[in-house]
Amino acid sequence: MRTSPYRLVENFLDLAHLCFIHKDILGDPEKSEVVAYKTEHRKDADEIWAVDCAFYQPSASKASTTGQMTKYIYRVMSPFSVMLYKTVNGDPSRNDAICVFIQPLDEADCLAYMPMALVDETSTDGDLIEFQQSIFLQDRVILENQRPALLPLDPSYELPTRADASSIAYRRWLKAMNMRFGIFEKQAA
Ligand SMILES: [Fe+2]
Repeated sequence: MRTSPYRLVENFLDLAHLCFIHKDILGDPEKSEVVAYKTEHRKDADEIWAVDCAFYQPSASKASTTGQMTKYIYRVMSPFSVMLYKTVNGDPSRNDAICVFIQPLDEADCLAYMPMALVDETSTDGDLIEFQQSIFLQDRVILENQRPALLPLDPSYELPTRADASSIAYRRWLKAMNMRFGIFEKQAA
């Protein structure tokens, strides 16, 4: 992916884009509201979590046969690694887990690895990879055209909305650790 690792993490965290970029799969433009969720900086592990996320999904996974209200829990373990736990249709005792582990090759050039642990009795591994890859390619077009590719941490540069609470927590965390790699710095006038 020709973008910064942070843009990839933020795209993964972003619930608001699901119904437009992944229309009829992970979201429905008629049901685009992002219900308020909570973000936490878990200081013991130094991780960012977003909990109580819920979103209507027409086809939440390869195994889905109907639309569902999917519940998400997001977990940012490090600046370049993020994962989510996602409810499974028909099995409330288990979650799907999907990770994005990013290896920056340069400030705006990354390899992204997506380990997945999915509850699915019928699909082949190939089906599951193809499903995830098709989602990823939809994001790729958007991400590689986003400017700047580097991430601005100045809050006046990209105005957040309530739906961006996880991105706000993530940026605050990066700023607190004084991250400079891949960060967009304002040019001196
Ligand atoms: Fe996406």
